Amino acid sequence: MRNILHIISSPRKEVSASRKLGNAVIEKIQEKYSDSVVRERDLTQNPVPFLEEEHIITFFSPAENHSPEQQSINRYSEDLISELKEADIIVIDSPMYNFSVPATLRAYFDFTSRAGYTFKYDENGPKGLLNDKKLYIAFTSGNIYSEGPYQIYDSNVPYIKNIFGFYGVSDVSVFRAEGLSIPGIQETSLEKAIEEITID
Ligand SMILES: Cc1cc2nc3c(=O)[nH]c(=O)nc-3n(C[C@H](O)[C@H](O)[C@H](O)COP(=O)(O)O)c2cc1C
Repeated sequence: MRNILHIISSPRKEVSASRKLGNAVIEKIQEKYSDSVVRERDLTQNPVPFLEEEHIITFFSPAENHSPEQQSINRYSEDLISELKEADIIVIDSPMYNFSVPATLRAYFDFTSRAGYTFKYDENGPKGLLNDKKLYIAFTSGNIYSEGPYQIYDSNVPYIKNIFGFYGVSDVSVFRAEGLSIPGIQETSLEKAIEEITID
């Protein structure tokens, strides 16, 4: 049985392009692996809080010294990380919002990027602790970033790859529905991206 974790970050629901692309990736995975189980982490339903000082103090102090409030912060972060650890396959929906990932996804990474959980440092530098996972990125954008003059602004996909590379996940496939604001491209972009999904 394969555990799939679907991380959703668009606040839009029915009309969300990234949810449609992410859902299509999930459907194709399920076609290939009929025994798979999907767990959804919808970051817009239960947003991860923005980092505050108390969170940072908690993350960098020994558990035995935690106050009840810090215990609950730690448990929340550990639960998010456990979901990642339990997943064999991770699908992230990532629309581009103002040249970045939605703030909800950034906040999520602030609660999952923790030494001793998702990475560690030793004398050779950083080492990822989430190995043997497959990551699919479902990227959507108004403009086009995979080629052409705006390629230098291609921020989301490299960023998510960097974060997961740091966690030890290097097996990544990317599906892009781009040009969703460009007349002549927007009409077919999502459909084409869905058609091109292949699961390895
Ligand atoms: C608040 C907001 C900011 C956006 N910023 C960008 C941007 O910086 N670059 C871009 O190419 N498209 C931008 N777009 C277009 C979205 O990337 C595009 O519509 C995408 O499909 C949104 O995914 P969603 O429908 O799942 O929310 C933006 C859209 C919104 C709503």
